[in-house]
Amino acid sequence: MKESQKDEPRRIAVLGATGSIGASALDVIAASGGRLAAAVLTAHRQTAKLAGLARRFRPETLVVTDPEADRAPLAELERTTRVLYGPEGLDEAVSSPEIDVVLAAIVGGAGLRGSWRALEAGKTLALANKESLVLAGSLLFDLARKNGGRILPVDSEHSAIWQALASCRPAETPYGASCGSDPAERKDLVRRLILTASGGPFRNKPLDELRRVTVGEALAHPTWKMGKKITIDSATMMNKAFEIIEARWLFDLPPEKIGVVIHPQSIIHSMVEFVDGAVIAQMGTPDMRLPIQLALCGMERRRCPAPSLDWSRARALELFPPDEERFPAIPLGRRVARDGGSAGAVVNAANEVAVAAFLAGKIPFHKITGICQSILEHHQFEQEPSLERLFELDRQARTETQTWISD
Ligand SMILES: NC(=O)c1ccc[n+]([C@@H]2O[C@H](COP(=O)([O-])OP(=O)(O)OC[C@H]3O[C@@H](n4cnc5c(N)ncnc54)[C@H](OP(=O)(O)O)[C@@H]3O)[C@@H](O)[C@H]2O)c1
Repeated sequence: MKESQKDEPRRIAVLGATGSIGASALDVIAASGGRLAAAVLTAHRQTAKLAGLARRFRPETLVVTDPEADRAPLAELERTTRVLYGPEGLDEAVSSPEIDVVLAAIVGGAGLRGSWRALEAGKTLALANKESLVLAGSLLFDLARKNGGRILPVDSEHSAIWQALASCRPAETPYGASCGSDPAERKDLVRRLILTASGGPFRNKPLDELRRVTVGEALAHPTWKMGKKITIDSATMMNKAFEIIEARWLFDLPPEKIGVVIHPQSIIHSMVEFVDGAVIAQMGTPDMRLPIQLALCGMERRRCPAPSLDWSRARALELFPPDEERFPAIPLGRRVARDGGSAGAVVNAANEVAVAAFLAGKIPFHKITGICQSILEHHQFEQEPSLERLFELDRQARTETQTWISD
């Protein structure tokens, strides 16, 4: 693998460039003063939006992962830019020796393929697609170790934990150079990780009212502006469940050492409590550009286009324990993190289908987590499924969830 020379821009493949993380990443790249370059941009169906991004960022390669997508908006660009189609196009673009960092920002289990290919090619993977770790955390870390790849967190909570862990590097190590390159090395010093959660739009809604919430209400997140699927996951708190699983793999800690607190202001992005009782938190505005920038720059600190906190304004920072009865996704996440094996693939698939059904008005909000629990209960647990087997289990769980919803 070739890593760009110091004065050359670091070449980024932005998988999911037309999404919310994609937009923030391109903002970071635009503000990097030439240190970062968008070498590959991918979209699934939004080819007109991709064409607009290509005109602005001039990548060498575009990928449209849905082979059925409308190709007309890209016709003119095809004269000057390499345009690849389908999942094989994604494989080719991600594995190119010209790419330094792959930003995995495709939504859902569909993101696993790009993450896998990146690590197979020994790349640095800036991971927003938490579903990759939910499905195949163990296999992805094995692959990274085998091929010399690295996984850097983009999720704001895990980025915060990474930054907090970096606080206990030995003093003689220059901060920044490879800041927190292996935080797992410090896991013996950690008493617990504390993931913060905004609590979403229904933080204070009584259980019986959750039955009647609308799609519009569920999409109205109080602090973060994100894609639809993760916004619904935040409302059910399945997002936090997935983050427990993500933390379990990223930091190699058991789920008992991964706590969740509700923090409605979304200023504290997460915390680490060390064995001496010290708690180190990372704070900032709720804006994904900082964690994206850190991951794209190998966790080095630089000026960032995200706004900073306004310290002249009075504010209160609140922390509450989560209500696990109203949000059963949290204990479900802990269980999946503990079980590992096939559990993550099954829950993720069930959740994707259930969220799509809720967005289409086919099921009420409060059924989403219950469906995931049922599908998990009914599947035949496997401890060490291969990647192919995980894809098979994913397909089966999707079919079963569809049937469950239609019955
Ligand atoms: N948004 C956030 O603030 C945030 C924060 C932390 C973590 N994340 C994670 O980052 C990932 C992306 O989230 P997002 O909010 O940016 O999602 P989003 O706005 O819905 O964007 C999704 C992106 O994935 C592409 N895509 C959709 N289905 C695909 C498929 N089957 N194959 C290949 N590409 C596909 C979309 O392409 P088209 O536009 O062409 O359909 C789009 O570029 C998720 O895993 C999420 O959990 C997001």
